[in-house]
Amino acid sequence: MLVLGLETSCDDTGVGIVDADRNILANVVASQLAAHKPYGGVVPEVAARAHLDVIDGVIAQALKESGLSLSDIAAVAATTGPGLIGGVMVGSMMGKAISAVRKLPFISVNHLEAHALTARLTNDIDFPYLLLLASGGHCQLLLVHGVGDYRLLGRTIDDAVGECFDKCAKMLGLGYPGGPLIEVAARDGDPKKFLLPRPMLGRKGCDFSFSGLKTSVRTLIEGQTLTPILVSDMAASLQSAIADSIADRARHAFAILKEEKQSVTAFVAAGGVAANQKLRERLTKIAEENNVAFAAPPPELCTDNGVMVAWAGLERFRLGLTDGLDVRARPRWPLEEVRNARC
Ligand code: KG4
Ligand code: ZN
Repeated sequence: MLVLGLETSCDDTGVGIVDADRNILANVVASQLAAHKPYGGVVPEVAARAHLDVIDGVIAQALKESGLSLSDIAAVAATTGPGLIGGVMVGSMMGKAISAVRKLPFISVNHLEAHALTARLTNDIDFPYLLLLASGGHCQLLLVHGVGDYRLLGRTIDDAVGECFDKCAKMLGLGYPGGPLIEVAARDGDPKKFLLPRPMLGRKGCDFSFSGLKTSVRTLIEGQTLTPILVSDMAASLQSAIADSIADRARHAFAILKEEKQSVTAFVAAGGVAANQKLRERLTKIAEENNVAFAAPPPELCTDNGVMVAWAGLERFRLGLTDGLDVRARPRWPLEEVRNARC
């Protein structure tokens, strides 16, 4: 059973093909980085047009890479939200068109659910698991009970963690996307050089906050010359503050689950920020403290891609969950609102 997945919700045109035995047959991602670079961030209209320009070619390349044709595909999945609506429409219309022409079932995939389920493809994780979903648009801790069955434990009350990385990187003159550039710059830096706040540390519950951190970075570098050493020290200090803050929130999530006598099979991290090596090391320790395994997809499957959409589509498809072609593209679609029709 092969499923084709299309991802176009932000600035990557991703096409993936997976099978039920957890094999990845194709993973092609066309990045729009160059198109958005002059603006220092993603421009929605530019993104939508760029998806439209390349999506045919990316699908053709995925089929070529896998040696398959559309007649081998059992179902088509596409991200139908949340995300930049122009891009979401390009991918979902393409998915629906393939479905209509080839008479294949169509599966509407929530982008966050695609991130949330990827570790089941890459690490064979069973339900229920604790999930940190950390990306450019989201930062949440969730209990994943099953496909379409998510309980939100905490979320950011202001900025997403990826947004914090991106905005601070911009202030430091590093460029976009900020997360990977901060990670590289931090390698030569002293994480203790700048005393940055650890937002929400010790607070009840497991909500996050990152806007204060961003303001602190701005205040500390104001009027300073951005020498390579200053940039590296600030990158290391920021990465360390973010890791401390997330680690504290994750500990609180485990404490809540313990109190409720809710066991989990694993602690999973997903979303672009989960590609961060320092963060992965911290999260691994927290999982160990709680006697569960830590799992995160390889970095290239943490950031946006079509494979995760194909996999989430496959998970839904094998539960008999398909969608009509009248399904809407949605700019906003929280994960807790994704329902498995059988729930
Ligand atoms: O999941 P994703 O590709 O797109 C969204 O759904 O938002 O996440 C993109 C975010 C960006 O903010 C980017 O800076 C961040 O993930 N990111 C990282 C790393 N790689 C990507 N943040 C920290 N360290 C990284 N290595
Ligand atoms: Zn994403």
